Amino acid sequence: MGLFNSLSQAVCLLSFATSLAGAQKAEGSAFTDATSQISFWNTKVASTGGYEFGIALPPDGSAKNDEYIGRLVGVIGAKGGWSGISHKGPMTNSLLLLAWADGDKVTTSFRWATEYSLPDPYGGNATLTEISHKVNATHFELVYQCQGCWNWEQDAETTASQDPATVDSLALGYAQGKQSPAPVTDVNGRISFHDNGFGIYTVDVANARQEGYEGFLGGSSSSPNSPSSGSSNSSSSSGSSGSSGSSGSSGSSQPQLVC
Ligand code: HEM
Ligand SMILES: *[C@@H]1O[C@H](CO)[C@@H](O)[C@H](O)[C@H]1NC(C)=O
Ligand SMILES: *[C@@H]1O[C@H](CO)[C@@H](O)[C@H](O)[C@H]1NC(C)=O
Ligand SMILES: *[C@@H]1O[C@H](CO)[C@@H](O)[C@H](O)[C@H]1NC(C)=O
Repeated sequence: MGLFNSLSQAVCLLSFATSLAGAQKAEGSAFTDATSQISFWNTKVASTGGYEFGIALPPDGSAKNDEYIGRLVGVIGAKGGWSGISHKGPMTNSLLLLAWADGDKVTTSFRWATEYSLPDPYGGNATLTEISHKVNATHFELVYQCQGCWNWEQDAETTASQDPATVDSLALGYAQGKQSPAPVTDVNGRISFHDNGFGIYTVDVANARQEGYEGFLGGSSSSPNSPSSGSSNSSSSSGSSGSSGSSGSSGSSQPQLVC
């Protein structure tokens, strides 16, 4: 334990220095996914190979305060890799979600960390429903609905939240590791350190809200190609049909990075 602490302190110092040197930027803009026609507030992080996280929240005043639709794009390198988010910004005391490619599937895992070391499986009730996914030679992409994802209960004593209905700005964290969890098939597999970047950025809640939210879920609304929950789409190697950059960018902002 003493050894592990000093190890992770060393890792911490090292990665802190790296992240300062790397000066990763996070930039947000409006984005509509060409395949699903779902609109997101999409943040791109300048990691090696790329990281993108798009978020769509139900419209203001919706009763659905504890969910969102997410789109996560992560790089796949020589050893695979994982990409993840923190639903509150920091690694600790916040719902963590990781995703990684396993063949042409995308596997996800909810985790929880009380310190800066290997996170535990999440003990609460967060539900991820895949809307679509893609895997090609260099990237994976996952579009999903996340329910029970803003109010967390790791155990009876450990609760936390970030409620989009009560804040103007959401703090979110990103993290990316160059090595897939092991075994790659195991949602509770061992995670390697985020050696391809980590940090915190913010998203204005108003930018993330989407009037068409219900339609994106296949409900009553006028969205073309509404995907139905649980359907998955994997297209290996040739990948996406034109998910090129942001469309209809309604002004870029440069969220603050707090590493
Ligand atoms: C073996 C697993 C992991 C270890 C040893 C680890 C270790 C650390 C350390 C030492 C820091 C602090 C670095 C600094 O401030 O200089 C950190 C930050 C961070 N980690 Fe992790 N981490 C792990 C897994 C994860 C996972 C799975 C996620 C998310 C899915 C994550 C998200 C973050 C974020 C967002 C930060 C920056 C914000 C903060 O400092 O709290 N980490 N991690
Ligand atoms: C967990 O959350 C899902 C989705 O919100 C819900 O359908 C289910 O009833 C919940 N289960 C428990 C045990 O709370
Ligand atoms: C998956 O996506 C590809 C290309 O975007 C499309 O041709 C195919 O019909 C989709 N499959 C499913 C099951 O949605
Ligand atoms: C691979 O997938 C990513 C994410 O969907 C996409 O941005 C990229 O253009 C794809 N690459 C190719 C060669 O299709």
